[in-house]
Amino acid sequence: DWTMAEFRSVKIAEIREQVGDKRVICGLSGGVDSAVAAVLIHEAIGEQLTCVFVDGGILREGEAEQVVGLFRGAYNIPLVHVQAQDLFMDGLAGVTDPEAKRKFIGKTFIDVFEAEAKKIGGADFLAQGTLYPDVIESVSFTGGPSVTIKSHHNVGGLPERMNMKLVEPLRELFKDEVRALGRELGLPDVFVGRHPFPGPGLAIRIPGEVTRERCDILRKADAIYLEEIRNAGLYDTIWQAFAVLLPVRSVGVMGDGRTYDSVLALRAVTSVDGMTAEAFEFPGGFLPRVATRIINEVKGINRVTYDYTSKPPGTIEWE
Ligand code: XMP
Repeated sequence: DWTMAEFRSVKIAEIREQVGDKRVICGLSGGVDSAVAAVLIHEAIGEQLTCVFVDGGILREGEAEQVVGLFRGAYNIPLVHVQAQDLFMDGLAGVTDPEAKRKFIGKTFIDVFEAEAKKIGGADFLAQGTLYPDVIESVSFTGGPSVTIKSHHNVGGLPERMNMKLVEPLRELFKDEVRALGRELGLPDVFVGRHPFPGPGLAIRIPGEVTRERCDILRKADAIYLEEIRNAGLYDTIWQAFAVLLPVRSVGVMGDGRTYDSVLALRAVTSVDGMTAEAFEFPGGFLPRVATRIINEVKGINRVTYDYTSKPPGTIEWE
């Protein structure tokens, strides 16, 4: 039986073997996978690792503070926090096609990583928290012909001209195994238990054009939704919950005025590995309460809907 303790020591040896005395840049996304990869690689090669956390304006509320606090504080792992909001928002202007968004974001992350690598005198390797489902889903859809469903930014979305070689120690693992490895490495439970968050972030939860203003609106609504889920004690039974800001406006009435604002979709799914998923059935009263709070508290949203689609035929994210 393959225990996580064994996996940890085998991987550490492999990472040392692959990397030698070279330098590695690890892109942190705010999610569990890249955090686990970073801690594992740090254990293997220590100071040869530099972690880079890119804030492109597509993170959730409080995410930057949490990641920076965890790495600099709890682990004392050097972390470069890059403020790249302008770069991302300028590049996303006018982009509405989902794959074009993913490609732009993947490429821009690499540009930032390469610029950071230069600042430390060069790095030969880029580390990512790619999991097994990311690898297969980027190549072909379960049982179907070989079509790319989505270019995951930590797999297919990478530009071919990239100078760095990849270090992907989690490539054989499923999410539950990554969480077990995270616990084995001493990552705090709140972090290990976090819902998955895609590399392209909020940008793929804003169908249509991504702007700062729409990211801000979505961030606020998403935070309220997740706060209510946590307060109801449901966070850990849900695989992933998030809000999607739709490019649709609807008419409403607030006070004695007419509103004409955006529609928000709420999504929550149960899943074992992200490859298939079922819509989560909230207890009665929960969704109306969240809808009311969001409409009252978030300017720009006047209607909230719930997404009941399973995967397949839907995907978990909307883009
Ligand atoms: P889909 O939407 O394809 O998502 O059903 C399956 C799982 O993967 C996450 N996801 C990503 N994770 N980079 C990532 O690291 C990506 O580009 C990406 N796209 C989707 C998604 O949140 C879900 O957990």
